[in-house]
Amino acid sequence: KTLCASGFHAPERGLIDVLEDVLIDIGADGTIKAIHRPGEPNYRSIREAREETGELVVLPSGSYLLPGFVDLHVHAPQYPQLGGALDVPLEVWLQKYTFPLEARYEDLAFAQRSYRLLVDDLLANGTTTALYFATIHQEATRVLVDICLERGQRALIGKVAMDNEDECPPYYRDSSAKAAIDGTRAIIDYIRFHPENGDGRVHPVVTPRFIPSCTDAALKGLGALAQECGCHVQTHCSESDWAHGYALARFGATDTEMLDRFGLLGRRSVLAHSNFLTASDMERIRVREAAIAHCPLSNAYFANAVFPLRQALEKGLHVGLGTDISGGPSASMLENSRAAVLVSRMLASGVDPALPPAERSTAGVAQIDFRDAFYIATTGGGIALDLPVGQFQPGYAFDAIVIDTTAEKGSMRLFDQVEADDQILQKIIYTASKANIATTWVGGLKVH
Ligand code: GUN
Ligand code: FE
Repeated sequence: KTLCASGFHAPERGLIDVLEDVLIDIGADGTIKAIHRPGEPNYRSIREAREETGELVVLPSGSYLLPGFVDLHVHAPQYPQLGGALDVPLEVWLQKYTFPLEARYEDLAFAQRSYRLLVDDLLANGTTTALYFATIHQEATRVLVDICLERGQRALIGKVAMDNEDECPPYYRDSSAKAAIDGTRAIIDYIRFHPENGDGRVHPVVTPRFIPSCTDAALKGLGALAQECGCHVQTHCSESDWAHGYALARFGATDTEMLDRFGLLGRRSVLAHSNFLTASDMERIRVREAAIAHCPLSNAYFANAVFPLRQALEKGLHVGLGTDISGGPSASMLENSRAAVLVSRMLASGVDPALPPAERSTAGVAQIDFRDAFYIATTGGGIALDLPVGQFQPGYAFDAIVIDTTAEKGSMRLFDQVEADDQILQKIIYTASKANIATTWVGGLKVH
């Protein structure tokens, strides 16, 4: 089919491509075959031909097409806790709330219910690709894989590996490094050979929770497994002052250095948070072409820091945006995009009114705008994952959402004043809500 639409995407950082009445040809395999713009000489004839064959679908006015969001950091099992348990520091939060909740996924009926609600909520929020931490459980992780395939969400899923007795409670840990590694391998095979996964919509991910929760043997074995399978890797990196200090105390080295030594830092690695990176950590991540999942809302609650996003982007690091459900209290990538702008403004201008303005900020030039937020929520996530998603380009998957600015219950309104260029996108980023998301497509299929 061919879609005629107006909308926006961000092919490069700082560059919003405004699409007006473009024709997007979508192949039977769900990828974009061609994009025709009204200025092109054959536009009119192509449009007429598509109309005649009945292949043309025209978006109504007031509706805008955006690439689907790429959520680069989600803890699927923490969905029941979304919007709660935000009162204590990370190391307390894990033991007090999060490990007990994740342990409940031993119960498959609970897993089914919770994961269905989550995946449907994320699709309704316009998240077409999600990078998921599951739990330590084989069976429940398979349930999440099955639900993503059933609902049609593009997903990257890892069984969480955590075997360190000193940091993980007896009721919720892998029984040994070998169990963590073998369990990870079993899920990789389950995903790769799944009969419903012929189009590769779901990918496996090697998932050491974070350095404190893993023994050296597990980290080493998982690094070797990631190299052997060529699959993605996800973990938490230098998140809070406590987590960052933990690796320094155990190894005399940073998380980034240790992940590299264990073979866990490569082109398909995604490091969540990464707030406390040193300059040489950043350089190491850049050279390895690994990526960072920026989680602005979560960082405000758990990290005691703001990630220097603009600095990382200007250095050329790969960065995407993550909700970090439930460390972050919103499943919405729109809300997290706004939060990314907000925290960057506070980092840039400083927050201590006792200081004179010139001395308030210690961060230098830190401010980003809605264009950068939109970029990391879409294109940046696709680049981070090394997948052809997040942009409207031939060869890319048609993963897209429709923002209906006339939606009755939506929080966004456009009045009849003329909005130039990317100003409508700015309003979408700042004011649109889930109720404005009329349609979600993944791989050309309507999934919401
Ligand atoms: N570090 C280790 N586990 C977690 C988690 O579940 N959430 C966050 N935000 N940080 C972590
Ligand atoms: Fe997290």
